[in-house]
Amino acid sequence: MTKPLRVGLAGLGNVGAGVVKLLDTNRALVERRANRGIEVVAVSARDRHRDRGVDTTRFEWVDDATQLCHRDDVDVVVELIGGADGPALTLARATFDCGKSLVTANKAMLAHHGLELAERAESAGSALKYEAAVAGGIPVIKGLREGAAANELAQVYGILNGTCNYILTSMEQDGSPFAEVLAEAQRLGYAEADPSFDIDGIDAAHKLAILASLSFGARPDFGAVATQGIREVDIADIQHAATLGFRIKLVGLARQEAGGLFQRVHPCLVPLGHPLAHVDGSLNAVVAEGNFVGRLFFQGRGAGEGPTASAVVADLIDVARGEFGPAFAMPASKLGALPAAPQGDHVGRYYLRLTVADRPGVLAELTAALRDESVSIESLIQRGTAANGGVYVVMVTHEGPERAVRAALGRMSASDSVIGQPMMMHILDF
Ligand code: HSE
Repeated sequence: MTKPLRVGLAGLGNVGAGVVKLLDTNRALVERRANRGIEVVAVSARDRHRDRGVDTTRFEWVDDATQLCHRDDVDVVVELIGGADGPALTLARATFDCGKSLVTANKAMLAHHGLELAERAESAGSALKYEAAVAGGIPVIKGLREGAAANELAQVYGILNGTCNYILTSMEQDGSPFAEVLAEAQRLGYAEADPSFDIDGIDAAHKLAILASLSFGARPDFGAVATQGIREVDIADIQHAATLGFRIKLVGLARQEAGGLFQRVHPCLVPLGHPLAHVDGSLNAVVAEGNFVGRLFFQGRGAGEGPTASAVVADLIDVARGEFGPAFAMPASKLGALPAAPQGDHVGRYYLRLTVADRPGVLAELTAALRDESVSIESLIQRGTAANGGVYVVMVTHEGPERAVRAALGRMSASDSVIGQPMMMHILDF
């Protein structure tokens, strides 16, 4: 049998410890599948003495993670440090300079520097593997890069952040407001003490930029992803949506439109008949639509020690087998700098929720704004009393360009009758 693949592991948080545990538990099986052993030989982390629930004293300790790749006894580096730049990026670059392969869970680094890293990997004849970076344990990168490689994809979209999905699901199930559920998620350790990357949609946007690159042959371009998180989703929106036959989910969506590549993370109304509507709690899911395969639906755990370690070790097995392949499904030189589709050109149905003063003529004002922007209303409900003393007006538009709906909303917001900020959400009609 070929000699073992020797791993340098940078980062011993939950996922790093999970990789060690998985390799211990499934050692014989992994060896049979890879046709050679996979052995961690050296590790690096911030705190050498922390109890990680697994013995790491048997590995060589390296204080400076960026040195791991220079060791003669390391064939492949696993980067679990995180962060778009800093030590993670230094280590990734150095790994390719040393002619070695990199397995990473770092979506921020790939969303910002994916093209450069793919080029470096190719020049070095090395692998850049990142199954764990998108949707944790779900094999969506392999699914799109390999399984669906023969298809032209119309769109790729999904629930890419478990923290947001947990919060939205809990708001719906318990009727609790956003701030209360977020505090509970932090107490349970789901959300970070600074949860802004999750709840402002940035984590999902990193993952979407990677999926879009893989799906459409585009250079990863985090800056082109329009991003709206879930802070403004009110419990009243969740209740109105339920009445109308929808669930609210934070959806990352990338698709090729006439004006270019559309990429956006945003809270959406998902019809109950769509499988995404039933992805609850901290689960993730990705949908891809190919011209021959049809709709693919991937669902599973998007985070956590076991699922993420499962993805990292799957990549190590690929490296051990010598299955490298181009990182983004085609050589880096073939990835295009696709123009960003104007967000206003996006066509769809929209949910609008306003709180208005309950007096004569208010509805006429709102509908005049819609008429002036040629937006047609499919349904309109006035109901309930909002906390601030007004009443809710909820509208669903017919399909039309987003630009017009935004313009109408701008007109409505300018009215003295409208109290506070209106809410507008896309309806996922795919
Ligand atoms: N913070 C992410 C989430 C997991 O909540 O889904 C890691 O990407």
